[in-house]
Amino acid sequence: MSLIDVRHLRVRFDTERGPLQALEHVSFRIERGEMLALVGESGSGKSVCAQALLSLLPRGRAVVETGEVWFEGRNLLTLSERELRAVRGARIALVPQDPGAALHPLFTIGEQIVEALRLHQELSREEARELAAAALVEVGVPAARERLDAYPHELSGGLRQRALIAMAIAPRPQLLLADEPTTALDVTVQAQIMELLAELRRTRELGVLFITHDLGLVANYADRVAVMYAGALVESGPTREVFRAPAHPYTLGLLASAASLGQRADARLESIAGMPPDPLNLPPGCAFAARCAFAQEACARARPPFLPPMGLRQALERGVELNLAAERRVACFESERVVSRAGADS
Ligand SMILES: Nc1ncnc2c1ncn2[C@@H]1O[C@H](COP(=O)(O)OP(=O)(O)O)[C@@H](O)[C@H]1O
Ligand SMILES: [Mg+2]
Repeated sequence: MSLIDVRHLRVRFDTERGPLQALEHVSFRIERGEMLALVGESGSGKSVCAQALLSLLPRGRAVVETGEVWFEGRNLLTLSERELRAVRGARIALVPQDPGAALHPLFTIGEQIVEALRLHQELSREEARELAAAALVEVGVPAARERLDAYPHELSGGLRQRALIAMAIAPRPQLLLADEPTTALDVTVQAQIMELLAELRRTRELGVLFITHDLGLVANYADRVAVMYAGALVESGPTREVFRAPAHPYTLGLLASAASLGQRADARLESIAGMPPDPLNLPPGCAFAARCAFAQEACARARPPFLPPMGLRQALERGVELNLAAERRVACFESERVVSRAGADS
């Protein structure tokens, strides 16, 4: 059984300007100890996805239209607020996208980790403080004990990010949702944070949903990757397989633009020509069709289903190293042409 199994998640926001389809039939799984990277340009729905798993979306405004989120034998979307409080933080932790908002400026790091721990476990202040110090040590914060008494502004960006991760992992969750945890950091600190997550995956079998813009980090650290476009997953599979033979034109474009930027750590996904569609007014067909070099007439008429891509066997015959048993999915009517084009270029 997977650690988490997300099925057909569909989320709408009711806005002043009308209904906004933020997530559309999003399905993925994460196994114990595995890292799944969720990539896609700004506004594609990555943060909404992480928040939806824990029912953290604004009530009234956000409507979960369909979906199941199976975790430890229960569908989290059917739990009461009280039941959810026992899951959030304790079993599934979120490192939110904006660390400024996650750490309170007026409390010390120690007070905040102690608070997070005592929310879920019956611990004395002293016991919680011991565990908080241990968590800081585990995430590689030097002089951990003194750091407990520091305020967030007294720490460097890298140390603040570590403190946030310490706060998230101190209650020993089984799944970490890390929303762009390295975006504001320099390359060296980024690598340290990624090594830290890799270590936690080994030592604790921690599963990680890693939300990022950085394809270099995805290539180096993620077992599998899911590519999001306009609220829908357009491609998913083992990272190596997807990078070797992308089957969706959007993935192909992302990889090409990252390669042309020399895999720089700050390589952004925004360099594909054209703009994503207005989420308040999605086209009836494929949301990428307007920017797509492979698009045919049919693409504008119907949404392509999310299925195993065609053409992988031919790619294999051309010598692209692929594991055909690996679970791959793509939402593209033209995936066969995309795979052969990608193979020819590589
Ligand atoms: N609370 C909200 N109310 C209305 N729309 C929202 C809200 N949060 C996010 N959205 C919209 O949902 C879409 C996905 O946003 P988000 O998940 O933050 O994107 P990403 O994290 O991929 O950059 C965007 O169009 C965004 O404007
Ligand atoms: Mg986001």
